[in-house]
Amino acid sequence: MTLWTYQEVGHNQDAKKEAKAFNSENVFATPKPERLIERIITLATNPGDLVLDSFLGSGTTATVAHKMGRRWIGIELGEHAKTHCYPRLKQVVDGEQGGISKAVNWQGGGGFKFYTLAPSLLKEDKFGNLVISKEYSPDMLAAAMAKHEGFRYQPHETVFWKQGQSSEMDFIFTTTQFITRHFLDAIAEELKGDESLLVCCLQFEAGLEEAYPNINLRKIPQMLLNRCEFGKDDYSFNIIPSPLDELRPPQDERITPVPEKPAPDHTTPIHDLFNQPEG
Ligand SMILES: C[S@@+](CC[C@H](N)C(=O)[O-])C[C@H]1O[C@@H](n2cnc3c(N)ncnc32)[C@H](O)[C@@H]1O
Repeated sequence: MTLWTYQEVGHNQDAKKEAKAFNSENVFATPKPERLIERIITLATNPGDLVLDSFLGSGTTATVAHKMGRRWIGIELGEHAKTHCYPRLKQVVDGEQGGISKAVNWQGGGGFKFYTLAPSLLKEDKFGNLVISKEYSPDMLAAAMAKHEGFRYQPHETVFWKQGQSSEMDFIFTTTQFITRHFLDAIAEELKGDESLLVCCLQFEAGLEEAYPNINLRKIPQMLLNRCEFGKDDYSFNIIPSPLDELRPPQDERITPVPEKPAPDHTTPIHDLFNQPEG
């Protein structure tokens, strides 16, 4: 049997004090002491490993992982993701000196991205049919469809139907307009010989599916539903790399020792998946 005494790993009062430092008006109810999590992370991981806390709480695990040179992912459904975790981790990046900071010589540095989930794309209408949620603006819908179909959402500056691409020559265009032959003829004229286009729309004129060799037409929400899997035990998600991933250095270079001075602020401000203004 192994006993971890509070002298070694801290106790609830320590944890409360640590939590209070980040939000004194609304102290998180069940925080863990940083020293306790430090011991667990020391035993279970190496520097550079990825630590997942899918119940982030006040963010202690992510805080300690960050100070110990681990990468981390935190998931939290409560409002305290914004009121507690975000400010806490931002202060950690800025070199906060509470908890285990002195013990690990934490000087600040690194960064994190803060994402919020978009609202559900499909909603049931009053007849029980799945329709696109009214919360989605045309831009959000286009971005969502690009993600779903494995395209990078990157609207072209001048060509309206080039909203995203999966390769240099393969484009996606999402619209809620009714698609006519006349409309597609105009696009087909602009498409270069080796370019192809996927058009996601609600409705299109009969007979258009096979009309163009390099234009594919698909109906939403049916194309989304085709991607849903019901009654399966093993879900293999189609995870599309973020465009930023390509800019990241190779893994070995990424896990740099704690910098001596706080690094510039890479902390992404709170926004949702589609950069909607709050409120
Ligand atoms: C006791 S706290 C976790 C403490 C935290 N792991 C730490 O390092 O101190 C549990 C948290 O899980 C969150 N939670 C519960 N169900 C969740 C879910 N389905 N998805 C994300 N977070 C969830 C709660 O809101 C609560 O903040």
